[in-house]
Amino acid sequence: MNILVTGGAGYIGSHTCLRLIEKGHQVSVLDNLCNSSHEPLRRVELMTNSQIPVFIGDVRDADTVASVLRDGQFDSIIHFAGLKSVSESFDKPTEYHDVNCIGTLTVARTAVQLGIKRLVFSSSATVYGNQDTMPIPENAPTAPTSPYGESKLAAERVLCGLQDECSSFSIANLRYFNPVGAHESGRLGEDPRGVPANLMPFLARVAAGVYRELLIYGNDYPTVDGTGVRDYIHVVDLADAHVAALSALQKRPRRITWNVGRGVGISVAQIVSAFERTTGINVPCRVAHRREGDIAESYADVTRITEESEWRPHKDLDSMVRDLWRWQSLNPHGYSGASTPT
Ligand code: NAD
Ligand code: WQD
Repeated sequence: MNILVTGGAGYIGSHTCLRLIEKGHQVSVLDNLCNSSHEPLRRVELMTNSQIPVFIGDVRDADTVASVLRDGQFDSIIHFAGLKSVSESFDKPTEYHDVNCIGTLTVARTAVQLGIKRLVFSSSATVYGNQDTMPIPENAPTAPTSPYGESKLAAERVLCGLQDECSSFSIANLRYFNPVGAHESGRLGEDPRGVPANLMPFLARVAAGVYRELLIYGNDYPTVDGTGVRDYIHVVDLADAHVAALSALQKRPRRITWNVGRGVGISVAQIVSAFERTTGINVPCRVAHRREGDIAESYADVTRITEESEWRPHKDLDSMVRDLWRWQSLNPHGYSGASTPT
C-alpha cells in the first residue's frame, strides 16, 4: 500500500513507519514537527535503507492536506497527528479540539473527496473515563474526563459520520491503552519535551540519575498492591496493530473500533520491580499522594482485535523495560543529543 502517515515523526508514528516499510509498504509523512523533529525519520531511513518523503505542514490546513493527498496518490492514511497531554488539555481545551477534532475532520473529509479508501485513527482508552468493571470492552459507555479525551471521542464520531455518508470509505478507531518502550535497536524511542508526565519515561530518567526519585502516586488504591494498574503495551506491538488494521480494512471495507492493549493489568510497583530486575539498577522511589484525576485500574478487553485480526502482542513487560532502558542509555538527551547512534 501507499500510505500517508500524519504525525509520523512522533513516538508511535515513527515506530509505525519503520514497521510499514519493513513490511514492504510505501510511506510518506505529513507532520508540523510541533512535538518532534526530523531525526527519528532520518533514523528510520537509515534502518530500512529507504527514503521517506516528508511534508512539513499542519493537518488543520485544508489546502496543504489537499495538495499532499492529491500529489501522493495514497490508498490509505494513518492519522497520528494530534496533541496528547491530558493535563495540558485543561489549559488549552480549544487548541485540543481544534487539532484533534478539526484536524481529523480536515484529513478525513479530504480523503473521502479524493477517493482514498481507508483511514486508521489514533484514539485512546481515555475515551472510557472511569469504568466500574475490568477489563473494558469496546462497547463500554464512553465518558471522557478531560478535554483531551473529549476531543478524541469527538474525532471518532466525525469519522463514523463520514463513514455513514460514504460506505466505500473504511475507518479504524484504535483505542490505545498505555504505549511504552522503544525499538529494540535503541535507535527509536520516546523523547518527551520537558519533565515527562508519564510513568515510564520518568522512571528511565530516575534510573539515569536525571531525577532523584520516582514519586509513586498513591499506594492505597484497591489494587493488587495498592498502586495504580494500567495496560502497558510495547510500542512495536502497537505499531503492528496499525498494520493489522489496514490489512483488515483492505480485506473488507468497514468500520472498526478496537482496543489495543495486552489485556493485562500491571501495577506501578510491578513496573519498578521489573525494571530493577531486568536492568540491575536500583530506582529510588517515594510514595506520594494520589495524582488528581487518576483512576485505580484500567485494562483492555482485547477479544475483538484478536478475533478480527491475526494481531497478537508479542512483547512482555521485561521487553518493555529492557528496550526503554536501552533507548535511554544510548540517547541520554533524546534525539537532540550529540552521542546518538546513526
Ligand atoms: P507524539 O507527540 O510523539 O506524536 C504526534 C505527532 O503529531 C508529532 O510528531 C507532532 O509534531 C505531530 N502533530 C501534532 N499536531 C500536529 C498538527 N496540527 N499538524 C501536523 N502534525 C501535528 O505523540 P504519540 O505518543 O506518538 O501519539 C500519537 C497519537 O496517538 C496522538 O494522536 C495521541 O493522541 C495518540 N495516543 C497516544 C498515546 C500515548 O500514550 N502516547 C495514547 C493514546 C493515544
Ligand atoms: C501510569 C500510572 C500513575 C507517573 C496517560 C493518559 C492517557 C494515555 C496514556 C494518551 C498511574 C502512575 C505516573 C509518576 C506514578 N495517553 N505514575 N508516578 O495516566 O494511565 O495515562 O497516558 O492518550 O490518556 O491519561 O499514564 O504513565 O501517566 O501513569 O506513580 O511519576 O503510573 O498514577 O497509575 P496514564 P501514566
